[in-house]
Amino acid sequence: MGDGARQPQPAGAPAGFQHMSVLLDEVAALLVGCRRVLDGTAGAGGHASRLAQGGARVIAIDRDPEAVRAARRELGEAATVRQLDFTAAAADPDIAAFTPDGVLLDLGLSSPQIDDAARGFTFRPGAPLDMRMTAGHGPNAADWLNGAPPEDLMAALADYGDEPRARALAREIARRRAVHPFAVSDDLVNAIRAVLGPRSGPAAFARLFQAVRIAVNGELERLAQALPDLLGLLVPGGIIAVISYHSGEDRVVKHAFREWARACVCPPAQPVCTCRGRALGTVVTKRAITPAAREVAANSRARSARLRAFRKSA
Ligand SMILES: C[S@@+](CC[C@H](N)C(=O)[O-])C[C@H]1O[C@@H](n2cnc3c(N)ncnc32)[C@H](O)[C@@H]1O
Repeated sequence: MGDGARQPQPAGAPAGFQHMSVLLDEVAALLVGCRRVLDGTAGAGGHASRLAQGGARVIAIDRDPEAVRAARRELGEAATVRQLDFTAAAADPDIAAFTPDGVLLDLGLSSPQIDDAARGFTFRPGAPLDMRMTAGHGPNAADWLNGAPPEDLMAALADYGDEPRARALAREIARRRAVHPFAVSDDLVNAIRAVLGPRSGPAAFARLFQAVRIAVNGELERLAQALPDLLGLLVPGGIIAVISYHSGEDRVVKHAFREWARACVCPPAQPVCTCRGRALGTVVTKRAITPAAREVAANSRARSARLRAFRKSA
């Protein structure tokens, strides 16, 4: 499906379910020859299915119980599917015992999550402000918008949403929530419209809803925390590949890989090298791999995808 063409619907898939796994051929090419792959973001199971078809044993995990159900439907016996956050994978005895030689993270949301208005990832009118990656667990987007200090709102809108008017927007959210707590997408859309004026529209809504989602789920912190643990899980010579969809995510991945490839990875302030000056491996993708134009034409959600990979020293 590397050309982005839609695959046939798997048996039992809900109406409207479609595979749109991003950079499928490119991921398969990077992980070719892997015997035991941990797919840390199972989603609808598209990448896991492809890797299993290539002969790998696959454990696919996802923090979202609905994604786990979708992946199980898709993968059947082809892979083991479990509900687990990839930040907890390295501490899981079964996954440690699996000794993967390939790890894949395909970050962000799956198409079924985006398309299900009840999950609240959409700015379509009347959708609840939910956005929790683990459906039903923890504070949701409305809780965050109603409760976060204005400086936290501003930081998230600026850092994750690249919003130049983040301060004004944070102030507007704080003003509005004091009168009428945020509950549905329209509340956030109206606040954005009030501040951005003619600059607001679907692109701005998508960017700023994504910023809220990243903050609500602590996505960048989780990623930065998980990457070294996942590298530790890999057998020598194993490979980790990460697809990101947001510049902040891609930055976290790029910096981690660059650090790991440095001969000495001790903190600059440390007077004596304790890492023995050995690089942990090599960056496989000198530049991020991006989808071909025909994939983007077939699947607009592929547009922002960046794939990077790192091979652990043998
Ligand atoms: C883009 S989708 C993956 C699509 C999948 N590769 C496919 O081919 O169908 C991203 C998935 O990652 C999951 N996810 C995001 N953060 C996660 C985390 N910290 N731990 C586990 N799963 C996570 C989401 O729930 C979502 O199902």
